[in-house]
Amino acid sequence: MQDKLTNILRTAKQQIAASDDLTVLDQLRVQYLGKSGELTKILKNLGNLIPEERPKVGAKVNQIKTQLKDLLTERHTSLQNAALDKKLQNEKIDVTLPGRGGHLGSAHPVTQVKNRMIDIFSRMGFSIVEGPEIEDEYHNFTALNISEHHPARAASDTFYLNDDRYLLRTQTSPVQIRAMEKYGVPIRVITPGKVFRRDYDATHVPMFHQMEGLLVDEKTSFADLKGLLHNFLNEFFEQDVVLRFRPSYFPFTEPSAEVDLQCAMCEGKGCKLCGSGWLEVLGCGMVHPSVLESAGIDSEKYTGFAFGIGIDRFAMRSYKINDLRLLFDNDVRFLEQF
Ligand code: PHE
Repeated sequence: MQDKLTNILRTAKQQIAASDDLTVLDQLRVQYLGKSGELTKILKNLGNLIPEERPKVGAKVNQIKTQLKDLLTERHTSLQNAALDKKLQNEKIDVTLPGRGGHLGSAHPVTQVKNRMIDIFSRMGFSIVEGPEIEDEYHNFTALNISEHHPARAASDTFYLNDDRYLLRTQTSPVQIRAMEKYGVPIRVITPGKVFRRDYDATHVPMFHQMEGLLVDEKTSFADLKGLLHNFLNEFFEQDVVLRFRPSYFPFTEPSAEVDLQCAMCEGKGCKLCGSGWLEVLGCGMVHPSVLESAGIDSEKYTGFAFGIGIDRFAMRSYKINDLRLLFDNDVRFLEQF
C-alpha cells in the first residue's frame, strides 16, 4: 500500500508539472482529489485494511492530498500568470510609433483672402452684413440709380430668373440698400458674397466674389475714403502701396473712382506681370444722394462712401495666379498649393 501511495504521488507530481493549460490541470484535480478520485477511493476502503495499517495509511493519504492541493494551486497560479503575460504581449501597442497622418484640408484661396479682408475691416470697426443672392430688380438696379435702359440690365449681362423681376445679383451693391433699410444711419458695413454675370474668359467667370464696403455718417468725405482704402491695401499687401485714384463712373456713386495699385515689381513702368504698370483693384465713390434717398436717408444731412472689391482678383494677385478659372475648377492638385 505504501508503494502504491508513493507511486500515485510521483505520477501526480509529474503530471501537474507537465500540464500546460488550465483545463488539463482541472482534470488532474478531479482525478486525484475529486469525490471519485483515486485517493478518495483509498480512504473509503480503509476498512478493508488490517487495523494497524489504517491510521498510517489514512495519515499518509491526507498528507499527499494536502501536498497535491498545494502543487495544484501553485501550478494554477503560474499558468494563469503565463496566460496573462501572453495576452498582454499580444495586445501590446507601441505608443511611440509615429501616427499615419490624417489628410488635412485647407480653406480655398478665395476664402482665405476673404477672411483676411474681413479681419482687417473688422479691426477698422466694420460689421459684416449679408444679402440674398437672388435679388429683385429694385435692389440690384433701380435703388442704385441704374436707369431703366442701362446696358447692365440687359439679359446678355444678367441672369434673370423665370419671373423677370428676379435675378442673380450682379454685384454686392444691393446689400448697401438692404443694410441702410434695415439698420439706418450712421452705418459702417462690409458685405462679402457671390455675384453672377454672363461672362467667361481668363479674367471673367459667371460666378465670382465681391466685398462691398459702405460707410454713411454726417461728415464723411472723399478724403476719408482715400485714407481708409490706403490703410486697407497697405495692411492687405503688407507693404507701403502706391495708389492711383482714376476718375470713373458708377450710377450709384458721385464722384466715382477706380483704384489702381502700382505694380511692386516694375514700380509702374510696366512689366510681364502687370502689363501697364498698374493693377486695377477696386471701384469706389461717394454714395449718390438719390441712393441715400432710396433707402429713406436724408441726403442733406448724411454723406457716405462705398467701395466694391473683387475678392477673386485679390486672390489672383496674392497668389500670382494668371487664370481666374483655375480658382473654380476645384482641381485638388491646384488647391493643395495654398
Ligand atoms: N458695384 C460695382 C461693380 O460691381 C463696384 C462698386 C461698388 C463701385 C461700390 C463703387 C462703389 O463694379
